[in-house]
Amino acid sequence: MGRSSGPLEGMRVVRLTPDDWRSYADLRIGMLTDAPDAFWTTLADVEERTEEEWRRSCDDRTLQARAADGRPLGTLTVLTPEVPPHVGLLPGAGDALVLAVYVIPEARGRGVVDVLLDAARAMARDELGARRLVLQVTETNLAARRVYERHGYVLTGHWLPHPRQPGVRDLEMARPV
Ligand SMILES: CC(C)(COP(=O)(O)OP(=O)(O)OC[C@H]1O[C@@H](n2cnc3c(N)ncnc32)[C@H](O)[C@@H]1OP(=O)(O)O)[C@@H](O)C(=O)NCCC(=O)NCCS
Repeated sequence: MGRSSGPLEGMRVVRLTPDDWRSYADLRIGMLTDAPDAFWTTLADVEERTEEEWRRSCDDRTLQARAADGRPLGTLTVLTPEVPPHVGLLPGAGDALVLAVYVIPEARGRGVVDVLLDAARAMARDELGARRLVLQVTETNLAARRVYERHGYVLTGHWLPHPRQPGVRDLEMARPV
């Protein structure tokens, strides 16, 4: 695999506001359909959400990479102990947790995930005052593990059982901010 061609021209990273809820919902439903085993949240958890509920969960802790024409290409979310996730790994003091990392299939291998992870690191450093970036990745998800290694994340030795795949672990990886 690897890079299929150069970086996407005109791509930009935006931080979401509640008014972006529709684009957030579309991408979230798309990712949970495309890659259900990569996330703890399931499609069933979100598909009945109302506009009001989408708006409440759509804020500036979620980054979206967009093509020049505005089409969403990828996303991730950064959470801290003050705003912890509902499921999975909980961030400790000084941690910024990176989760819900996703790039649409047509945009993979083009550096979208690199731009998103760099932006998450900048947010953790400049705004959140975090000391450590931490995430969880399913042990069989070799593409994601490769990306995180490329970005300096190493296995911490901690893990959680995958919520739906018996015998499979979600491994914790971390790097200093
Ligand atoms: C994980 C994800 C965000 C990575 O984005 P991407 O654009 O595909 O990543 P890249 O192409 O930059 O890098 C993938 C790396 O894994 C490698 N790779 C891909 N498939 C692989 C496989 N089956 N085995 C081993 N390595 C693999 C690629 O060669 C590349 O390595 P390189 O940097 O040495 O060339 C994207 O694949 C995705 O959204 N997947 C579905 C959701 C998901 O798994 N999210 C992560 C949850 S923790």
